[in-house]
Amino acid sequence: MAQLKWGMIGGGEGSQIGPAHRLGALADGHFTLAAGALDHRPDVGRAYAQRLGVAADRAYGDWTEMLAGERNRPDRVDLVTVATPNSTHFQITKAFLEAGFNVLCEKPMTVTVEEGEEIVRIAAKTGKICAVNYCYSAYPMIRQARAMVRNGDIGKVRLVVTNFSHGHHGDAADADNPRVRWRYDPAMAGVSGQFADCGIHALHMASFICDDEVEKLSADFASTIASRVLEDDAMVNFRMGRGTVGRLWTSSVAIGRQHGFDIQVFGETGGFRWASEQPNQLIYTPVGGRTQIMEKGEGGLYDDAKRLSRVAIAHPEGFPLAVANIYCDLADAIRGTPRDGLPTAASGVRSMAAVHTAVASAKAGGTWMDARPPMFR
Ligand code: NAI
Repeated sequence: MAQLKWGMIGGGEGSQIGPAHRLGALADGHFTLAAGALDHRPDVGRAYAQRLGVAADRAYGDWTEMLAGERNRPDRVDLVTVATPNSTHFQITKAFLEAGFNVLCEKPMTVTVEEGEEIVRIAAKTGKICAVNYCYSAYPMIRQARAMVRNGDIGKVRLVVTNFSHGHHGDAADADNPRVRWRYDPAMAGVSGQFADCGIHALHMASFICDDEVEKLSADFASTIASRVLEDDAMVNFRMGRGTVGRLWTSSVAIGRQHGFDIQVFGETGGFRWASEQPNQLIYTPVGGRTQIMEKGEGGLYDDAKRLSRVAIAHPEGFPLAVANIYCDLADAIRGTPRDGLPTAASGVRSMAAVHTAVASAKAGGTWMDARPPMFR
């Protein structure tokens, strides 16, 4: 099978998410890195792309140059990843979709709900794939959890409780670090800081596992470092379409918590827990029964979890391989076999609607509000 050609925008040397994309995209031989505009500094981006093996004429200084260079090539890239700061996602994703490229956009997909709806419409109109990198949903044991809910293994879901709380922006003296600062600057990050940065992963995960959508929410936001315009801590209560009760805490000042993303799902006949710091295990308890540790790679898992467990049982599989699973699903989709688990622009715009609703709710003292984007009401 011919390798697919991949291009990347952002994710330059020293960036947080760039290495996970490169490890993920290249892990299975589906893609080869053919083009890139990797850095906001054109010369630095060109030089780094060439060090990664990109030909000089496809190591671009910025994304507009890349669009112009790639659009008419017979061997143009099959997929473009957008891994730049949030405020640039919409413009870049829209331009590449309209030019007929498939796109994997980092979260949050856009800054406004209107932009998100526009991306959904453009993807539908062009027939191109627009995926959003909710990569945690591609861990094998998350696919197992979702399959268990779908197969009724824990009965109707009553309650979902999730946290994505770390302490890495908790040092007030470090608040001006450029890699930290943009996340709390409305011009770069949008209307929300921590909720849009990490909370939406947790909210997406709740929807993904429960196979249901968030309908309404009530939020409380705080900027515990007073110089921050945007929140660094949020508590969000929500309700899903089938009545499931949701509780979500997200924070970037929870010093001592490292990655801090976990989720518990409680149904009528059982419950389970997953934590991103032990991603290979799903802790499952049937009602009235013993607690069990289900392990990635073991026998008896549902098909999707089996398919995405790639290293032998008990060998750790980490974050870059979850990203690689997103790229496997993308490669299948580009080659004509769409995968049900791949997060799309619809999830992206639902997240944006939740972010804007949470901001409005927090400003209104926690009033419950409809969290759905207008296009899905
Ligand atoms: P970062 O600040 O560490 O790196 C940003 C990179 O983009 C830098 O290399 C910078 O030079 C480059 N860049 C900035 N503007 C550019 C432009 N106009 N054209 C080309 N390159 C440009 O940021 P980080 O943490 O890597 O975040 C990037 C995006 O990835 C954000 O949207 C963030 O929300 C998302 N992210 C997603 C994660 C996930 O789990 N899915 C985890 C971390 C970040």
